[in-house]
Amino acid sequence: MSELDYGPLSGLRGSWKGDKGLDESPEPDGTEENAYTETIHFTPAGDVDNAETQELVALHYHLAVHRIPDGKAIHNQTGYWIWDAESQLVMHSFTIPRAVAVIAGGFYRGETDADGNVVIEVAAELGDPEWQIIQSPFMQKNAVTTAFSQRLTIGPGRLGYNQTTLVDIYGRKSFSHTDQNELQPL
Ligand code: HEM
Repeated sequence: MSELDYGPLSGLRGSWKGDKGLDESPEPDGTEENAYTETIHFTPAGDVDNAETQELVALHYHLAVHRIPDGKAIHNQTGYWIWDAESQLVMHSFTIPRAVAVIAGGFYRGETDADGNVVIEVAAELGDPEWQIIQSPFMQKNAVTTAFSQRLTIGPGRLGYNQTTLVDIYGRKSFSHTDQNELQPL
């Protein structure tokens, strides 16, 4: 059996750990800041043939985030990173235990940063005709996610990301809930 080509996602495979996490999240009276540790496990999910025309390869992942210093679990997420080589399209589909799901997308056309890391950017927006966000009735009413954007940088022995989730919550519009981390192979 020949090895599948995961394109720009190839460097993600395996397990990662990082303790440089920084979170800014919403509180009724302002912003909560958390330092965090994170583990991510990526597993090849193989290839997919959609409607006999779209050829995809996918990596499944699960990540867990714990606050420093008390070890409290503050975030959990599972989903797929998906590569469509013909369209040069990266898709990131995931869900979190608040009953929010995101399908974000972005083109990858060989972008790298000054250090030679692969740079992947994806985004989704509430009501966007292409890249969408789905959430429970409670979240739609009380803490609606209106946009999500993420930048990954992947290099030999390192994985970095920063992401912004916009949330309407506590009577405020577009609270900028941000997260970033830097991880190494486990
Ligand atoms: C490393 C990533 C993330 C971390 C560490 C994190 C952590 C947190 C924390 C600490 C809160 C404050 C409320 C609480 O204490 O439960 C929060 C709120 C929230 N997060 Fe995240 N989050 C992350 C990613 C995301 C993502 C990707 C989404 C959605 C796409 C999201 C959606 C929300 C929403 C809607 C709230 C408001 C709910 C509330 O505060 O009651 N978060 N997050």
